[in-house]
Amino acid sequence: MNLPPGPKSHWLVQYRGWAQRPLEFLDECQSRYGDIFTIKIAEGGRHRPMVLFSDPAMVKQLLTADVKNFESGEGHDSMRSYVGENSLLVSDGGLHRKHRNMIKPQFYGEHLLVYGERMRNLCDEEMAGYKHGGSFSVRQFMQRLSMRIIVDTVVGAKDSAETQELEVRFARFMDWLTAMPGHLATNVPAIQIPLGPLSPWGYYLRETAAIDTLIYKSIAHAKKAQLDERYDVLTMLAHATDQEGIGFTDKELRDEVVTLLIAGHETVAAAMSWALYYIHRHPEVKEKLIAEIESLGENPDSNSIYKLPYLTAVCDETLRLRPSLIVAFTRMPKEKFSLDKFEFEPRTNLMPCIYLTHHRPSIFPAPREFRPERFLERQYSPYEYFPFGGSNRRCIGAAYAQYEMKIVLATILRNWKIARKNLTSVNARRRGITITPPDSFKLEVFGRR
Ligand code: HEM
Repeated sequence: MNLPPGPKSHWLVQYRGWAQRPLEFLDECQSRYGDIFTIKIAEGGRHRPMVLFSDPAMVKQLLTADVKNFESGEGHDSMRSYVGENSLLVSDGGLHRKHRNMIKPQFYGEHLLVYGERMRNLCDEEMAGYKHGGSFSVRQFMQRLSMRIIVDTVVGAKDSAETQELEVRFARFMDWLTAMPGHLATNVPAIQIPLGPLSPWGYYLRETAAIDTLIYKSIAHAKKAQLDERYDVLTMLAHATDQEGIGFTDKELRDEVVTLLIAGHETVAAAMSWALYYIHRHPEVKEKLIAEIESLGENPDSNSIYKLPYLTAVCDETLRLRPSLIVAFTRMPKEKFSLDKFEFEPRTNLMPCIYLTHHRPSIFPAPREFRPERFLERQYSPYEYFPFGGSNRRCIGAAYAQYEMKIVLATILRNWKIARKNLTSVNARRRGITITPPDSFKLEVFGRR
């Protein structure tokens, strides 16, 4: 097959680079092979070449092509067993379109104002656990907080024993899934044998069954609830129908709840952790941000916080420099597809590389510097800057995620005195599909402001 050049090393060597030092690996490929290259790694137990590219003209060509000629679901095969076959992440065609059309509106518009107030309360509750003089690992804090927020938004009933158990079990399951045993168990079919409850696959089966039981109980409650007495996504989806008047089955609801919990917390936790990291590496940015947030007076509503220009620029710049996902989902053409000087065979994995596009010096001068002002000085096209991807797979939680980032950052900076003792830089770590700061990045708490 006529694929762009790329590293010649064994796929295991490339996989190691991709998994253990992803940003350096991508930088090396770009400097050696240019704007389009092929890497070979194995995921879901299968070895598959992936074509990555970072020239905005190529990104545009792919993201504006007719979506009917592409599939993406297979790219997430390794997640299929736990997100379920109806999940947005693994489906294509009519099923994908129908679910997207029904789920996406729940994360936009006036819903955000309701979620925003709850995000703020949950953030204050979590922060209140820290005493004067204590310190906290920012990634772990953000992981816990974003888990609580997404469970509250999607499943609701914050104080019910079921919701609280779901939060704890799901977080534990994600820790396992993103560490080596979970990664191997879900990617290597040969070890998917239940050899007792302590074996990796035995643990996987037990935990997914326990999580499913909790989700099905929540589905039963949501179906009985009146729409006007609940705010959560599950209740709205349990009552929603498509144009033909057909609603979701319980299994479809279960698959999408798991999908939203997975897609909706690791990504935001990574982005919020990086934001706090850069804000504390640049005291002048922190000062300017606090002044902007305080200019809103006592108790501003969430929408006013969301619209703050400098806070928006800080969040945009964080997602430019450290996009939570370094590549958009794979697009596999159903027919031959030409991109640049290459003609790709059907089923080639084509992936716009978010990280490398965001680091092009011709578009973002001094690309490794954290400079929020660049977003106040000019606008970027959706093919130059696309932390949430594009076309028919664009992140359905994009507005919600930006809302959450801003509310949480504003709540912390406004109400708490926090500082970083040590200003050294930290290396990016992979956690599952996201790129995060290491757990060793900590902030000190000096009480309320
Ligand atoms: C800062 C946080 C986030 C980032 C950077 C992010 C980024 C992305 C990206 C790059 C994609 C792939 C888009 C493409 O290939 O074109 C995606 C897809 C998706 N995201 Fe997000 N995301 C974030 C938060 C969220 C949240 C909060 C939710 C849920 C509430 C969510 C739900 C999804 C779903 C369901 C998809 C699959 C869409 C589809 O295939 O149709 N994400 N996200």
